[in-house]
Amino acid sequence: MPTEQLEIREALKLRDGRATVDRVSLTLAAGERMALLGHNGAGKTTLIRMILGLTAIDGGEISVFGAAPGDARARRLCAYLPESVSFPKALSGREQLRLFARLADEPLSVVDPLLERVGLADAAGRRIGTYSKGMRQRLGLAQVMIGRPRLVLLDEPTSGLDPISRHDFYDIVDDLVARGAAVLVSSHALTELEARTDRIAILREGALVALDSLANLRRRAHLPIRLRITAHDDAADRVARDLHGQRVNCRRVELTCGPEDKMDRLSDITALGKLVDDVDVLPPSLEDLYRYYATGTARDDAVKQEDQP
Ligand SMILES: Nc1ncnc2c1ncn2[C@@H]1O[C@H](COP(=O)(O)OP(=O)(O)OP(=O)(O)O)[C@@H](O)[C@H]1O
Ligand SMILES: [Mg+2]
Repeated sequence: MPTEQLEIREALKLRDGRATVDRVSLTLAAGERMALLGHNGAGKTTLIRMILGLTAIDGGEISVFGAAPGDARARRLCAYLPESVSFPKALSGREQLRLFARLADEPLSVVDPLLERVGLADAAGRRIGTYSKGMRQRLGLAQVMIGRPRLVLLDEPTSGLDPISRHDFYDIVDDLVARGAAVLVSSHALTELEARTDRIAILREGALVALDSLANLRRRAHLPIRLRITAHDDAADRVARDLHGQRVNCRRVELTCGPEDKMDRLSDITALGKLVDDVDVLPPSLEDLYRYYATGTARDDAVKQEDQP
């Protein structure tokens, strides 16, 4: 069995007789990015804390590169950014990171370039108590990069960040992955995750209901494709009628079709000639897929966990 990975087998957490993490199995290899999705209370934070050894396991097994969660070796290999990150208010950002570098046996010279990397160079000498939420979040990200972690667990890391910082954040994740780290990111920000993860895990009431690449989840869900048509001048009514589509506003008509009918429907649209100015093909988004898998629309036989042992 390769040990260069996180292995979770049938992990179980019981609370008040209810499974809040319900026999979850997954593996995460070095250099892989996985998004962990699910409604509030689905068990994301609990699972992450179980991997870290902060929440006790009631069944199953977790192996962090061959080590048990929470033991000294596993702790050295893991970096964690919690949902609501808190720091001592009296220290400056630089002092906090230096403290952390010392604990991780890293030279203090790593600190200033990291502060620069997360856009905190100007605030490095200021007390953390004066930082905004997004600045504390960035400091947390800098902290995660200290000590060359092999497994990085980020619990809703972009929740306090503005759009530019979110973009920078994913660049930092790319850096970590390029250095061979495995990264697990829990998030509700589906649009930004869409292009930024290798695989997606979806929890529903503690159980894993999907675990695969976006392309495979899309194929399996077989959700309809939307065709958005811009009709020429006053032709929207006629276009909607001819195509049995729905008129959305004065020029826009929408229709949906199965993936296998897409080309036929596009031919129907092209056949209308000058009545149509433009057409956009919209495949199901991660949000559509999330709704499908996380709300119970998915039939049980649609759920196939590719990397089960
Ligand atoms: N310390 C605790 N004691 C008792 N129940 C808990 C505790 N922590 C979490 N739970 C319960 O476990 C379930 C999963 O919670 P968890 O925090 O893992 O969800 P989550 O997916 O991270 O949600 P969110 O998106 O809101 O962060 C919830 O029903 C929650 O109420
Ligand atoms: Mg949570």
